[in-house]
Amino acid sequence: MSILPIIKYPNPILKTSCEPLRQELPGVKQLIKDMQDTLISHPFCVGLAAPQVGTLLRIVVIDCSRSRKPCQPHGNLVLLNPVITQREGELVMREGCLSLPDYTGNVKRAVSVIVEGLDNDAIPKKIVAEGFEAVVLQHEIDHLDGILFLDRISSLKTDVFRRKNY
Ligand code: NI
Repeated sequence: MSILPIIKYPNPILKTSCEPLRQELPGVKQLIKDMQDTLISHPFCVGLAAPQVGTLLRIVVIDCSRSRKPCQPHGNLVLLNPVITQREGELVMREGCLSLPDYTGNVKRAVSVIVEGLDNDAIPKKIVAEGFEAVVLQHEIDHLDGILFLDRISSLKTDVFRRKNY
């Protein structure tokens, strides 16, 4: 079990677009395991993207069943090369990020999404998610394109909040 250090803003790694996985690379299975261990080492953390642990590959791990927010989560998800193929509706939700530990922000997202990608065994997977889990998917997939929730804030004056403790 390895808990990986989290890359924090303003490290330029977080602004870099990640490469898709085109073949099974050595070490990727272990990286995914380490990402999952890292995720569960942070209370209430529901998602982590590979660039947050310093690897510029299109991998996210998500587990919204760890949150107390109401939703019907898929539980533990590993997605390689995830792509949002459909989005519907609009909502604003307060978001946080391990890479921006001192802030939260109100971010406008789609209410529901369909995400297609590969699972841990490189088997194609299609996730239909809504509400909180849909927001988490959008947040984590943004990380793969070098986008942080701060980049999606409409007003830095009224939509960003300083956290007292994480
Ligand atoms: Ni994040």
